[in-house]
Formats: sequence, C-alpha cells, structure tokens
Amino acid sequence: MPEHQKIQNVVVIGAGNMATHLALALHHKGVNVIEVLNRTRQAGEKLARRVKAGYNTGLNAADFRADLFLLAVSDSAIEEVAKSLHLKDQLLVHTSGSVDMAALSGASSNIGVFYPLQTFSKEKRINFSNIPVCIEANTRENEEKLIQLARLISKKAQLLSSAQRKVLHMTAVFAGNFSSFMYTIAEDLLKKHGIPFSLLKPLILQTAATAKHEDIFSRQTGPAVRGDTRIMDEHLEMLAKHGVYMEIYDLISKSIIKHKTRNDEL
Ligand SMILES: NC(=O)c1ccc[n+]([C@@H]2O[C@H](COP(=O)([O-])OP(=O)(O)OC[C@H]3O[C@@H](n4cnc5c(N)ncnc54)[C@H](OP(=O)(O)O)[C@@H]3O)[C@@H](O)[C@H]2O)c1
Repeated sequence: MPEHQKIQNVVVIGAGNMATHLALALHHKGVNVIEVLNRTRQAGEKLARRVKAGYNTGLNAADFRADLFLLAVSDSAIEEVAKSLHLKDQLLVHTSGSVDMAALSGASSNIGVFYPLQTFSKEKRINFSNIPVCIEANTRENEEKLIQLARLISKKAQLLSSAQRKVLHMTAVFAGNFSSFMYTIAEDLLKKHGIPFSLLKPLILQTAATAKHEDIFSRQTGPAVRGDTRIMDEHLEMLAKHGVYMEIYDLISKSIIKHKTRNDEL
C-alpha cells in the first residue's frame, strides 16, 4: 500500500479498557494518536497524556486531520456517538464483537470494524502480537487500510463479516466466559469442603493447552465421554443440594454423550 494511503493519524473516541489498550499499542508502533475524545474529562486526559495526544471532551469537536476515527465506546453508545461526530467521509470504525458494522452507516461513507478478540482491562498489560484482530470494512480500500494497521500491532489480522464476527463473539462466551465460570463452580464447591482450589490448577492449565490442537473433542476425558453412568450418578447425587450446579453437570454430560455418539456414527 502506498505510504500516503496508510493510516498514520488516529482520533480515539473513548478512554475505557479498549480505547486505552488500542491507543497505547498504536502509539508504541509509531502511529500518531492525535486526539482522544471522551465524555469524561479525567479518563480522557489521562489517556491523552499517555499517548501524547490532545484531549477534547466535546465528541463533535473531532480533529479532521485524522485518517481514522477509532470508536471504542460501550456497545449501546456506538450508534449515537458515531452520529454526533459529524463526519462525512473519514474512515470510522468501532471495536465491538457484537455490533453490526451497519450501526455506523449513518455516520460516514467510509466505515468498518476493528475488533481485537481478547478480554481487556486497563490495569492488565496486554501484548497484542498474538491477539486476533477481526476486520470488516465497506470497501476493499478500507479493508486494506485496516488490515495494514492491524498488522502493525498483531500477527493475526482476519477479515470477518458482521455475521461471522457475531458468531465468533458468541463462541467466545463458551470458550472464555463459561469455562471461567466452571472454575468458579469448582472453587465454590471445594471451599464448602475445605479443599484448596490450587489443587486443580495444573489440571486447568493442561486442559486449556488442548486448545493448541485440532479436534479438541478427541482429547475429551471424564466420565461422560467414557459413558461411566455409575460415576455420573454418584456426582449428581453429591450435587443434589446444589440445584443449578447439578443441572449444569447433567446438561453438559448429556451434551458430551450426544457429541460422542454423533462422532462415533460418522
Ligand atoms: N473490554 C474488553 O474486553 C473488550 C473486548 C473486545 C471488544 N470490546 C469492545 O470495546 C468497546 C469499548 O468497551 P470497553 O470495555 O473499553 O468499555 P469501558 O471500559 O466500559 O469504556 C466505555 C467507554 O465508552 C464511553 N461511553 C459509554 N457510554 C457513552 C455515551 N453514552 N456517550 C459517550 N461515551 C460513552 C465511556 O466514557 P466515560 O469515560 O465518559 O464513561 C468510556 O470511555 C465496546 O464496543 C466493547 O464491546 C471490549
């Protein structure tokens, strides 16, 4: 891509978890964050200082020298904030996994999505290089610009449509949020019996490492995949006092058995 078409000057809108990590990552790769716009002054000024940018509280006072407006506000505010920027044809992207690109269509004629698939909190340092950045744009040229920008910070830029991104976002709930809640259930049950949770940590880490392989289900272990009904019944009995945990155990076991039967039939 010719140098003059690359994204070099960015306005970041928002100063929360995502805005902070993206602004810092781009700044460290030499992209000029020229301005941070944020509703709340304190957070906006703090981020602006960290990336040597200007700060403005008025969301409709954007610096039009920018090649890109990176809108990293809460999902529910994306459409409204996008419109309040009063852009014409400047490239505008949001960073959400679950909001359609079309939410920006009334705000500029050049729009896209720049969605890094990871969980971010301001306090935790993040190395972007292995984080997939999912890209969507309304023209090929915008796609190329965003891919080039994503590759500055990550080895994994991936084109995905809004529909595909929403599926990915939904599966991240299974892979990330639900597995994390399984640890919470285990921790809660162990605590009730005075057993340290740390005993499970090596198993948890080894299980997470199965994600490195193809066909993860072929590495599934435990009573459900073995069809060991005696153990499953014993566990269900032990969980009888913990209604919802028992239901979760039963449902997931049934789902594993069904998955195995389907695989065996193939
Ligand atoms: N955090 C993650 O792990 C993660 C991962 C992937 C994608 N994302 C996406 O990144 C985007 C930002 O999420 P986040 O986690 O950074 O959220 P966050 O930390 O809660 O920050 C929200 C930002 O949006 C601003 N905002 C909220 N409502 C607003 C409104 N009505 N008008 C103007 N500004 C408003 C807030 O401004 P104030 O400072 O004034 O409150 C703040 O700057 C979302 O689209 C989210 O889906 C987040």
